[in-house]
Amino acid sequence: MSSISIRSRGATRSGEVVFDVSRFIKLRDLIYVKTGIFFEEKKLYYVKKRVKEHMTALGMEDFDTYYRFLKFRDDGTEFQKLVNLLTTNETYFFREFDQLAVFAEECLYEVCTRKEAGGVKRLRIWSAGCSTGEEPYTLSIILLEMLDDIASWDVVIEATDIDTDALEKARRGVYGKRSVRFVPGEYFKKYFEPVEGGYRVKDPVRKLVRFSHLNLMDSKKMHSMKGMDFIFCRNVLIYFDERSRKEVVAHFYDVMNPGGYIFLGHSESLSRITTAFTIKKADGLIVYQKPLDRGR
Ligand SMILES: C[S@@+](CC[C@H](N)C(=O)[O-])C[C@H]1O[C@@H](n2cnc3c(N)ncnc32)[C@H](O)[C@@H]1O
Repeated sequence: MSSISIRSRGATRSGEVVFDVSRFIKLRDLIYVKTGIFFEEKKLYYVKKRVKEHMTALGMEDFDTYYRFLKFRDDGTEFQKLVNLLTTNETYFFREFDQLAVFAEECLYEVCTRKEAGGVKRLRIWSAGCSTGEEPYTLSIILLEMLDDIASWDVVIEATDIDTDALEKARRGVYGKRSVRFVPGEYFKKYFEPVEGGYRVKDPVRKLVRFSHLNLMDSKKMHSMKGMDFIFCRNVLIYFDERSRKEVVAHFYDVMNPGGYIFLGHSESLSRITTAFTIKKADGLIVYQKPLDRGR
């Protein structure tokens, strides 16, 4: 009996992975629906390089088989690996220093004064898209410096990300020179200790931070993050399209206490996303506050 072997079009005769525009779009759309991250076509080579390397490490040559597995048979494990591979995790301590100064000296003072007057010394801060942890630990250092009576406050910094590798690094809390290059000298001495492989964030800083895995497009989990006073979602929404930005920001609004503030990256804005927040100018910077006296 003769047999024929049908070579899938997702691999060449030499076994090289074929990843053309139509395959890129299929994968891009799958990632977009699940994560909100939108890769424009100019990102084809970025995605292709990583996916090809990953498939080679898995011993797979046929993109179409890989895609079908991801779409129909994967229990989420392989998709998570792909996401870890494709997210951009660039971050460092005290990133966007001027904005942090506004948070520390104006917004934090305002919110804490109001809460104290109301007799509720509870503060919830959310670093949404915390990457490897530099942002939430920075916020923790700021709180330790700004709140003289921090022991009398119930404070949690919720630090979440979709990337499980980044979260693992964040929990370790050990950083290289590049990450700590903008930490003011005085804080560096006070809050870091040298260890093998870098500098470890000291325990008082770590204690305020709670890391967890959260996909910003997962509406159920998003709603579990209640009662936020501050949300930092910096340099995350740039990777989303307008529709997913709107969805995420609507969730942020819902889980935020009236009078709470949201901080975005310097190249990001809410202008085309929502008018629900009040725009305030502080030291030449724009900050967004949920109005105190009205619901949505
Ligand atoms: C460039 S880093 C920003 C880190 C930090 N916020 C900063 O400004 O330095 C972007 C982070 O957003 C995360 N991210 C992207 N899409 C996400 C999603 N759908 N849910 C949660 N995190 C996401 C990525 O994994 C990445 O760690």
